[in-house]
Amino acid sequence: MESILVSGGMGFIGSNFIHYLLKTHKNYKVINVDYLTYAGNPENLIEFEGFDEKIYKFYKCDICDFNHILKVVKNENIDYIVNFAAETHVDRSIDNPDIFIKTNILGTQSLLNVAKKLKIKKFIQISTDEVYGSLNFKDPAFTEDLPLKPNSPYSASKASADLIVRSYFKTFNLPVNITRCSNNYGPYQFPEKLIPLMINNAMNNQELPIYGTGQNIRDWIFVEDHCEAIFLVLKHGIPGEIYNIGGNSEISNLDLVKNLLLILNKPETLIKFVKDRPGHDLRYAINFKKIKNELSWEPKTNIEDGLKNTVQWYLQNQDWLEHIINEEYLKYYEKMYKYR
Ligand code: NAD
Ligand code: DAU
Repeated sequence: MESILVSGGMGFIGSNFIHYLLKTHKNYKVINVDYLTYAGNPENLIEFEGFDEKIYKFYKCDICDFNHILKVVKNENIDYIVNFAAETHVDRSIDNPDIFIKTNILGTQSLLNVAKKLKIKKFIQISTDEVYGSLNFKDPAFTEDLPLKPNSPYSASKASADLIVRSYFKTFNLPVNITRCSNNYGPYQFPEKLIPLMINNAMNNQELPIYGTGQNIRDWIFVEDHCEAIFLVLKHGIPGEIYNIGGNSEISNLDLVKNLLLILNKPETLIKFVKDRPGHDLRYAINFKKIKNELSWEPKTNIEDGLKNTVQWYLQNQDWLEHIINEEYLKYYEKMYKYR
């Protein structure tokens, strides 16, 4: 049985990836390493607690801690590493970039050193479309060969990590792939991000804070589609290659929020336009022809169904949300939104 180490597996996409692996590809052992920052939530994988340790095991572990990760990778005979672990919220990176530089750059390098030392079969770096920078409304979508022009401390840290991953392929022949995906949504997303934040606020009849004019465009992908693409890249991606992953669903923030209100049957008067995010990227759009042609992948979920399913999930999992909306979250919310 081959084994996959998932770093950041208690976060949003990492935990969805583990659900996907354990339900869809039962012939793998999955080792989850996560430092359990504010964004890491063991409740995301509660159904696998006490699971057969030959199939799933969790270690609380910092990806920056080379010796700890080395021990885990050695003892668990890891074949593949999929690196989701990161600081991920753009607004927090504007507030304090330091931890982004440490986790996203140095943490990735530390994992790469382990992968190199133990000659693992494949290292997958989960990157983001934000490394390409921002598009104007009429620009063609991002392709993999574009130069990197990150605009926030978050995206700059991810772009830096991508370059280091690339260098380990070129210099040390470490088999790597980099995936660059657009905005994910779905179950288990921390409510600092647009969609769960708006759902939570609307459910509680609170204001929905839209930055600037709300005309910024994102390309949304249902998280399960992203997970499927990552698995295909892990198995069949050509070493050294970068793969864009997109949802084929561009929509402005304002239209997206209006759709959520419609699904939730709440009034548009809840919308409040607030001060814009500094350096706010105008538009992201993904050209995913490469993964479509080479690995026969394309997104399956359209945004209408995906949003309805997502709203339904949050309505049915209010306990999960209530556990997150704790003192720490409320302090964060107050700090980020009070003076906007
Ligand atoms: P998230 O914030 O929900 O989860 C991040 C996870 O990493 C958490 O469980 C956290 O505890 C863990 N972590 C943080 N620092 C760590 C450390 N030092 N050691 C070990 N674990 C640590 O993030 P997400 O939205 O699930 O994103 C996962 C990855 O996908 C990130 O690398 C992100 O850049 C990338 N990505 C996200 C999106 C998106 O829309 N959310 C889109 C494209 C790419
Ligand atoms: O594109 C991929 C990226 O998507 C990932 O790499 C990041 O980890 C992830 O956080 C996400 O970044 P964004 O900045 O696009 O996501 P966020 O949910 O923070 O914001 C989406 C859009 O909504 C953005 O234009 C800012 C706007 N926004 C966000 C929040 C939280 C608002 O208008 N109001 C808000 O309260």
